[in-house]
Amino acid sequence: MSLPKIGIIISSTREGRFGDRPAAWIAEIAAARRDATFEIVDLRDHPLPFYDEAASPAYGAVGNPAGQHWGELMAGFDGFIFITAEYNHSITGVLKNALDYLYPQMNRKPAAFVSYGGVGGARAVEQLRLILVELQMAPLRNAVHIGMSEYLGVVTEGKSIADYPYLAESARVMLDDLLWWTRALADARSAG
Ligand SMILES: Cc1cc2nc3c(=O)[nH]c(=O)nc-3n(C[C@H](O)[C@H](O)[C@H](O)COP(=O)(O)O)c2cc1C
Repeated sequence: MSLPKIGIIISSTREGRFGDRPAAWIAEIAAARRDATFEIVDLRDHPLPFYDEAASPAYGAVGNPAGQHWGELMAGFDGFIFITAEYNHSITGVLKNALDYLYPQMNRKPAAFVSYGGVGGARAVEQLRLILVELQMAPLRNAVHIGMSEYLGVVTEGKSIADYPYLAESARVMLDDLLWWTRALADARSAG
């Protein structure tokens, strides 16, 4: 197969969001790899109305043109990294709504996570894993959790995420795992 394509999804859209920083950080690390291509997908660029289709995308095609475009974009990826913000112990509403538009485009594809928040965004990632299982995805164990001390270091002390080398090691493990699953599931999907 040609090089697998991984989407890096920024899950928050508010002005002044933190999400840009982990997205740029992981994209730079990922760009050094030769086993996949990576593309940032910013939910700001894909505004979607609250899902109000007649049925779930599991049972019928989405009619909304913006939703169709969003689905076509997601169908082009072989795996995903969700830059996961934690809002009220869960994922952002905008990400949940964007996921509600999807089903066949995500089936049997792996998902990995770079999260941030009070406990490294872990609660949001746990909820996101449950949601992605319903899309018949394979959410992975290895993730990067940017904790509160690193978050505050970046936001209030002028540091960058790269100043925390253990996060780069987490990223390496996460990316190795993601690419293993991406290749395995792409082969299995093409085998039918
Ligand atoms: C609506 C809202 C709810 C939040 N709830 C949580 C939370 O439950 N746990 C947490 O660790 N941080 C929470 N935070 C703080 C976020 O972790 C922090 O603002 C982070 O920067 C949000 O991501 P963003 O900047 O990319 O939007 C919340 C922030 C917002 C805006």
